[in-house]
Amino acid sequence: MSIQFVWNERYSVGNPEIDQQHKRMFELANSLPEVASSQDVRPLVLRLFKYTREHFSCEEEMMRSIGYPLVAEHVALHEGLIGKLCKVSEQPLGGGDDVLKFKEFVYAWLVDHIMTEDNKYFQFVSGQSDSASDKAGSDDVM
Ligand SMILES: [Fe+2]
Repeated sequence: MSIQFVWNERYSVGNPEIDQQHKRMFELANSLPEVASSQDVRPLVLRLFKYTREHFSCEEEMMRSIGYPLVAEHVALHEGLIGKLCKVSEQPLGGGDDVLKFKEFVYAWLVDHIMTEDNKYFQFVSGQSDSASDKAGSDDVM
């Protein structure tokens, strides 16, 4: 058994910078070998963990900068995954099966998070820019 994180355009949130970061997370997760010894895997888990933390900070900064009302809930979800990644990067993984289970967990978490929570945020952003342009449009009429 093996798992590959495969990018799908359905995962796009419509923001190229964030899409790129999500793709990079997929790549880093794909780099975890499912047959290697635990010593080989831990630095790679750590690399994924660090990148994920940076990516989440970037998203959270964007959310705070526009006053996204659900930022606290979103940050709590990020912290949940960070806690899990931190735990996994501190303990040796037992072997290929452990890595596989870990990757399955991260894949399911990421896809679900991108498709629901990240999308919710970017829909909010596009709703805001729509109402800003509506306003601009109505100013033109007046
Ligand atoms: Fe997020």
